[in-house]
Order: sequence, then C-alpha cells, then structure tokens
Amino acid sequence: MSNPAAERLTVPKFMALKHAQRKITMLTAYDYTMAQLLDETGVDALLVGDSMSMVVQGHATTLPVTLDEMIYHAEMVGRAVQRALTIVDMPFPSNHLGRYKAVENAGRILKETRCQAVKLEGGADQAEIIGALTSAGIPVVAHCGLRPQNVHLLGGYKVQRDHDRLLREAHEAEQAGAFCVLLECIPADLATDITARLKVPTIGIGAGAGCDGQVLVTNDMLGLTSGYVPRFVKPYADLRSVIKQAAEAFSADVRAGRFPGPDQQFK
Ligand code: KIV
Repeated sequence: MSNPAAERLTVPKFMALKHAQRKITMLTAYDYTMAQLLDETGVDALLVGDSMSMVVQGHATTLPVTLDEMIYHAEMVGRAVQRALTIVDMPFPSNHLGRYKAVENAGRILKETRCQAVKLEGGADQAEIIGALTSAGIPVVAHCGLRPQNVHLLGGYKVQRDHDRLLREAHEAEQAGAFCVLLECIPADLATDITARLKVPTIGIGAGAGCDGQVLVTNDMLGLTSGYVPRFVKPYADLRSVIKQAAEAFSADVRAGRFPGPDQQFK
C-alpha cells in the first residue's frame, strides 16, 4: 500500500528534531511486512540492526551476520519504507578493514538497498572511518557505550561506566562527521550529559530518558523474543501469546473440520 502523504525524513530533518526538542523514535526492522507496518505508525527511523543475527537468524551474538545478509534484508526494508529515515548496521568486521574497504562496504549498502545511512560501532577509534564515509556522502550513526560486536573483549553485555572515555567517544564521533550518536547501556546521567554537549541527536537504548530519542529492538518491544530480554526493554505487546493462540486455533479448527468453512471454499 502506498502512502502519498508520507514526507520522507531526511538526515537534515532528522537532525533538526533535536533542535525542535521533539523526541525521536527508532525501531529495528528486518523485512518488508514489518517495515511497512512500522513506517505507517510514523516512527521516525528504522534500523536494520545487526541484532538480526540474534532475533532473526537465532545466533548467540551479533557477530555472525554477513554484509550480504544485511543487504538482503535492508533491501526489503528500503523497498517498504516511505517516511522513516532508514539506517543499516555495518556488520562485523565490515568497518574494520581500512578506509577503502569501509567506503566500499557502506557504499554497497546505500547503492543496493535504498536505505539512507549506516551505523557502525565505535567513536574515537572509528573517527577516521566515520570521516571517510562522510566525505563519500554516506551519513553515519556512531554507536557508543556497550558495543555488542565487542562481546568477547568485554566478557558479556555490561553497563559501560567510564565517564571520560564515553564523553570523548561521543564527542570525537561527532567531530568526525557522525550525524547521530547511539548510546547503549550507559548510566542515565552520563547519557544526559553527553546529550547536552553534542549538537547532533543522541538515541538511547538502556541509556535513560535524557537522550534525544529512544530505540528498541522491535522483536523485544512486541514481546516476540523468547528467553532473556534486557532490563531496559518495555514490552508494549505480547505477540508470542497472540501468535500461539492463533496457530492453536487454526490447528484445532482444521482437526475438528471447522476450517475451511463455506465462506472459504469455491463452488
Ligand atoms: O542492532 C541493533 O538492533 C542495535 C540496537 C542497539 C538497536 O544496534
């Protein structure tokens, strides 16, 4: 279904939301149906996150998903979206292979998916790459704080509390050209401080209410995730139960001869 009234959110319009003091919303999307549905709700940005590795592919970490797989899914999302700003994660290690390779990889994302920006994990250590991508016309979101691609270095998913380092990370990411900084799993007062010091918007996940906007993994937000869900998630629905009830009702109807009924058959 096309929505002619939808006015596309561009990077400058997205950045302007901070100055208008309008809180920004972002959700993850990995396929056409969900991206179209979420876009119709007026969410500001859709992120094709490398969380896909865990919530779609069933891996234990975000590390296994490949660039080709990200592009395959981002292309579905890019085709569905009419309004939201669309951002695609650079999967591990596509931004760690030097400037040339990073531009080539991020360039593929923009060329092949119709999405508008990339996100990469890193701040100060990725400043050179953020600069190279921005110079090539590729808008970059920097992801600071907990960096799930570093899970093996960190020994788990832990709240990051190094105030000075995190301030520097976010600041250098902005200086390098990032148009937005995502802050994951850091204390709320630190995120508020970073948000006040940056000119570009901050988007928090597990970073408190002081950020310019919030992002959640859609599967967590909808109650689709089985097993462990981080404490910072607020489930807005219980779709696991809804889907299970519908599938059970279908099986019960078929087994009892109630489906298909007269309305679902051809004469
Ligand atoms: O991959 C992802 O879903 C993320 C979250 C922090 C939103 O990066």
